[in-house]
Amino acid sequence: IHLDSNTASLSVANEIASLIKLKQEEGKKAVLGLATGSTPIKVYEYLVQFHKEGRLSFKNVITFNLDEYFPMEPGSIHSYVRFMKEHLFDHIDIEPDNIHIPNGDLGMEEVRKYCEDYEEKIKNVGGLDIQILGIGRTGHIGFNEPGSTLNSKTRLIRLDRVTRLDAASDFFGEENVPKRAITMGVGTIMGARKIILMAWGEGKSNIIQQAVEGKIKESVPATFLQHHENCDFVLDSAAASSLT
Ligand code: F6R
Repeated sequence: IHLDSNTASLSVANEIASLIKLKQEEGKKAVLGLATGSTPIKVYEYLVQFHKEGRLSFKNVITFNLDEYFPMEPGSIHSYVRFMKEHLFDHIDIEPDNIHIPNGDLGMEEVRKYCEDYEEKIKNVGGLDIQILGIGRTGHIGFNEPGSTLNSKTRLIRLDRVTRLDAASDFFGEENVPKRAITMGVGTIMGARKIILMAWGEGKSNIIQQAVEGKIKESVPATFLQHHENCDFVLDSAAASSLT
């Protein structure tokens, strides 16, 4: 628990940077699972800053993003492709071939195979070293909405009404928010060797309390993280305020 989201974000950025450097020393790749949304923005700002100061290279980094709306054209201002470019990828020296973001621009008949291939790609690079997460008001991680199972894999899902309402202002109205998304599964996330879930602000305090102290259940997918052996919740004091 940190006093504010700024110091919390710096600690997460430092942890990611340390992993990247350690892997560099070992001549290996660092495999990062990345999230979008408002929560990780400051972490990305710090990573960009480290790079600009000449302290961190991303040449040995491979990334997999958690999710993308469906349907969604990669060039759309609403796409997570655009988000990641704006906040991170356009400002660092990562190899474009090492970036993976679920493609929201597929035909229905292509989706299943695409999702299986996404899982294969993660496996083929040795799995995720660190997965960073935000949390939705529904308790979703990635876009694994209530009802998602512990072993779920990358797939097309239907977004919860609450999630679509939360995204409505970005899309200038709920009716414009896509009804579906492609997301890594809970099982995909649980496969990461380290998980860091971040949450800021009082609005997240109730769901954080349920995720950390509540019974493990499908109706709050973030509770599954209680099963993980190496998972940190990094919170500001407001997000932690309902913990007992
Ligand atoms: C984003 C994602 C979502 C968000 C969550 C919180 O890639 O997977 O689970 O992390 O909806 O969103 P913010 O950070 O905007 O509160």
